[in-house]
Order: sequence, then structure tokens, then C-alpha cells
Amino acid sequence: MEGVIDSITRELLTRQPGFDWTVTEFVRVVDARLPPRVFHKHCPELARPDVATPSGVPVHLQLLGADPPALAANARQALELGAVSLDLNFGCPAKLVNRHDGGASLLRDPRRVEAAVAAVSSAVGDAIPVTAKIRLGFSDRLRALECALAAENGGARQLVVHGRTRDEGYRPPAHWEWIGRIHRRLRIPVVANGDIWTLEDYWKARTLSGCRDVMLGRGALADPWLAARIRHWLATGERLGETPWQARAAILADFAALQRNTLPDRVVTSLIKQWLNHMRARDAEAARRFASLKRLTRLDELLLGLQADAGAAQPARDEATGDEPARALRERA
Ligand SMILES: Cc1cc2nc3c(=O)[nH]c(=O)nc-3n(C[C@H](O)[C@H](O)[C@H](O)COP(=O)(O)O)c2cc1C
Repeated sequence: MEGVIDSITRELLTRQPGFDWTVTEFVRVVDARLPPRVFHKHCPELARPDVATPSGVPVHLQLLGADPPALAANARQALELGAVSLDLNFGCPAKLVNRHDGGASLLRDPRRVEAAVAAVSSAVGDAIPVTAKIRLGFSDRLRALECALAAENGGARQLVVHGRTRDEGYRPPAHWEWIGRIHRRLRIPVVANGDIWTLEDYWKARTLSGCRDVMLGRGALADPWLAARIRHWLATGERLGETPWQARAAILADFAALQRNTLPDRVVTSLIKQWLNHMRARDAEAARRFASLKRLTRLDELLLGLQADAGAAQPARDEATGDEPARALRERA
């Protein structure tokens, strides 16, 4: 997720079990072949032989662009730099990106989706898989299936479908049943995405879409243990307890410590507030902390404020098992 999930966030989120793969922020392709530093900036994991997070979860490199020759040239560049998989973004709703003919704007013409995927697929041949990500359309869903088939015909080996149109932005609901219409018609695996915040959402998204796999976006930031929660439930049938505040504070502190190695404190301070802002959408204690700390400008003060004890931050007991979740989370870390 652009501006939000960088390599450090990927590293922290994948410390917990549950993720099979992750994706970089998009690399914007306009016309020229981009220099290696651009790819390394978006995907520092290229420096590792496995192009994976330190826990071994593969990182797929995402390209966003509209011009088939330019996409092909940059796909070759990424391949030479060691990318293990390339994903094409046809979902970005940003006005600036769409105005310059990128992201979701291509969904208005499925032939352009196919041409972009085909150009990248033939540029990398069988060396690495090419995957794609779409929304259900630009302004309406009339061409949702056509766009999905176009990606498949172009050679995509997997398709992630965000169950909203571009004009729907991020407004709930995500139309998981529409993802099902696509899933039923494609031969390649389809992954359901959009509005999966809880274990219940996960199961509903799977049931309504018929997809075996889902992609987590904001839900993983709001609850960094969401993927682990899903994996644990699938493996055992038991539910992990709510993520306690102290676990959230610990991941934010680790985030600050890692970001501080390369970024000024001022920038790290706003990145922490950004993540806390995502957490507050789903957690009352995070919301309280955000409200009381959002005006702080010094990183050390912000970190102290996050770690300070609060009566309300006691770990909740798991309703089904009675387990104490903080201990479970520490053991899993
Ligand atoms: C701030 C932000 C940045 C995003 N950047 C990207 C991106 O670079 N590539 C991408 O494929 N999707 C991107 N997305 C979309 C998410 O991957 C996801 O499809 C969308 O948020 C719906 O899933 P969710 O409801 O689980 O968040 C971004 C979303 C947000 C909110």
C-alpha cells in the first residue's frame, strides 16, 4: 500500500504467521526504463537472495502503468534485478494517477488491461509469474468480468479483485459476491480483497466469493494479528483473543526503532501516527491514545505516551477459550 506498507512494515507484519506473500508499493511506470535504485527503494528485499521478508515471506513487486512497451521494459529491468514475481496494479483510484492514465483508469477499456498484462508476460516469459489486481470497474461494474478475463487472457497467473469500483473509493461495503461472479468464470486463482477487518469478515468474504484466498489491506494495519488470527483459526478451529493494547504499542515501538535507522525522527513521528490512525478504526484504546497523542511532535514523547500503562489497556480474555491473549501473542512472536 503506497505510502503505508514499506519493507519495515512488511517485516513487522510477517513476523506473525499467516501471510503467504506480500506486495510492494507500486512502482510508477510512465515511459522510460527506471533505474535500479527506484526498484530497490520500493523493494529493498531485492537485496536478499529469496526476495522475501526476514521471516521468509515472498515479496511481489508491483508495477503501475498503461504503456505496454514501457511496462515490458521495466518488467525486464525488475527481472534482471532479481524480482521473483510481478504484479500489475489496475486498481489505484488516485485522481492524479488516473488522470495520467494509470491504475483503475484502464478498467474502462479491458483491451488495455489485456495489452498491459500481455506485454509484461511476454517480457518475462516463464521466468517469473505475472499477476494482476483490479477493481470491479471504474464507474460501474458492467465490465468487471471482461476486465478479469482480459487479465487472464493476457497471461496473468493470479488475479486479486478489490470488490469495489474506482468511484466507490474505499466506501463500504466491498461486494464480495461480485468477486464470486469473477471467480466462477476464471481458470486462474482469484483472490478476494476489500473490507476484511475481522475473522468473521474473512469467513464471509470467502463464503460469498467462493475464493480460497484473501488479500488483507487496511485490516492488517488495524490489527497486525489479523492474518495470524485467521491462520490459527483455520489450523485449530480456535479463536485467538483480541489483540491487547500492549502488543500494539510494542509493534509501534519496533517500527520506530527500525525506521529511525534511516529516517529523521520527524518523519518517523508522522509514520507512527499514520499507523495508529489505522489502528484506531478498530480499537478503542488506540482511538484514545490517538486522540491524546496526535499533537505531539517529538518522537520520544510519542513513544512514551504509547507505552504508558492504562487501566483500559488490560488484555481481554478470549471468550471461547479463556486464554490470555498477550501471552499467546508473545509466544507466537
Ligand atoms: C493508502 C492506501 C494505499 C494503497 N496503495 C496500494 C498500492 O500501492 N497497490 C495496491 O495494489 N493497492 C493499494 N491500495 C489498495 C489496497 O491494497 C486494497 O486493495 C484496498 O485498501 C482494499 O482492501 P482493504 O479494504 O482490505 O483495505 C492502497 C490502499 C490504501 C488505503
